[in-house]
Amino acid sequence: YTLGLDIGTSAVKALLMNQNGEIIAENSEGYPLSTPQAGWAEQNPEDWWQASQKVIRDLILENEIKAKKIKALSFSGQMHSSVFLDENMEVIRPAILWSDTRTSAECEEIYERVGGIKELASLVSNPALEGFTAPKILWLRNNEPENYKKLEKVLLPKDYIRYKLSGKLGMDLSDAAGTLLCDVKAEDWSEEILNRLELNPSIMPPVLKSIDIVGSVTTEAAEKTGLSTSTKIVAGGADNACGSVGSGIIKAGRVMASLGSSGVVVAQTDQAEADPEGRIHLFNHAVPESYYMMGVVLSAGMSFKWMKEELFNDELSFEQLNQEAESVAAGSEGLTFLPYLYGERTPHADADARGVFFGISGKHKRGHFIRSVMEGVSFALRDSLELIKARGVEIEEIRLIGGGAKSELWQQITADIFGETISLLNIEQGPAFGAAIIAGVGAGVFSDFESIVEDLVDVVKTVEPIAENVDKYNQNYKIYQNLYGDLKDRFK
Ligand code: XUL
Repeated sequence: YTLGLDIGTSAVKALLMNQNGEIIAENSEGYPLSTPQAGWAEQNPEDWWQASQKVIRDLILENEIKAKKIKALSFSGQMHSSVFLDENMEVIRPAILWSDTRTSAECEEIYERVGGIKELASLVSNPALEGFTAPKILWLRNNEPENYKKLEKVLLPKDYIRYKLSGKLGMDLSDAAGTLLCDVKAEDWSEEILNRLELNPSIMPPVLKSIDIVGSVTTEAAEKTGLSTSTKIVAGGADNACGSVGSGIIKAGRVMASLGSSGVVVAQTDQAEADPEGRIHLFNHAVPESYYMMGVVLSAGMSFKWMKEELFNDELSFEQLNQEAESVAAGSEGLTFLPYLYGERTPHADADARGVFFGISGKHKRGHFIRSVMEGVSFALRDSLELIKARGVEIEEIRLIGGGAKSELWQQITADIFGETISLLNIEQGPAFGAAIIAGVGAGVFSDFESIVEDLVDVVKTVEPIAENVDKYNQNYKIYQNLYGDLKDRFK
């Protein structure tokens, strides 16, 4: 067996896989998220560790698994969230999460110290965003100097759990890339950026590859989890890298678009060529010597959920919402929705942006609003897709995943808005699945990513765009895009 552990934002998930890649058991355990101030989001690393111990212990006990049979364990985790450790490797303060937006001043500071977005993108391939790790370290220095004095190491959530299980410090490239301190192309910490930010390079742990074996389970961790000390610990990857592995986004030409709670568009690429304007992310992949471009839509499925629960009081089922939306023609008769309920990441990097319904007229009924929410989210995904295309990435196949992809209507809307064929997959397992595959590749259970992933992940359905709708949506997309430009100063 191999075990994948995903340290998510709401829960830790464990997934046990056999040597054929079949899922044998799954388990999850939630933990709280605290919001001490508006825009803040924190978690206690000890909660991740307690929950990790419990999911592993329960998974082994409930399924009567012989711990020695688990050859390897690896990780996926929320990206960017900072775990600050002192000289005894004790947690200094609660972790500041990827979704926390307190660091706008520090993002400005980074641009000032480095000399603007182009210079920053040339060093670390990405823009300074509130969610990324480097601004959080500067925030600690600027706001909690006593805590900053104690700072010895910075880890990300899954690196902390890896440390608790193996006693080894490290951060794999796919997560190092999201700290804003890593030279993505050179695959190492960027001395230049650390210098400009006046950060001591020793606060960052050794850089690992996702498939590196870092050690095995310590005796203490074995006692706490029920794992065997013979189980190898493999480094693992960022949740988006692991999710991409699990959807087969491991070779050039493949793109994944996700209609999850937040949405992402991910394209594998062999070239580490960053967007000089930093609008689309470029991160190292979990697959060695490869990269992925990624755009993030903060409120994708979340916009639909908001509409269902807050606008329509949860009185309509998903089926009813879909039926009403289906009775409306493509384009929602001029009603346009911008899904920026909590600001937007790609392409605007604007935490102040907010949602908009534009063009409401007396003829619009409930179905128009429902359909325009779906259309607005798919337009937001198209923004990321366009940026990826503009980087010269050749797209051969777009795989649509996430809760929203279960709606046939939303599948068609997305195909029409993209003007591209959309593929649906036989399997949708999320990042813990990718982590279990990484554990297997790292420990030699699977010979390489391609053989196992191509074997497990298949396209089961394709949806062709309808020409007439594509034309309509191309017109509406212009309106959609112009609206943000027209409104952005009003959001401040
Ligand atoms: C990626 C990002 C989120 C988190 C979620 O840049 O911020 O997708 O990885 O865990």
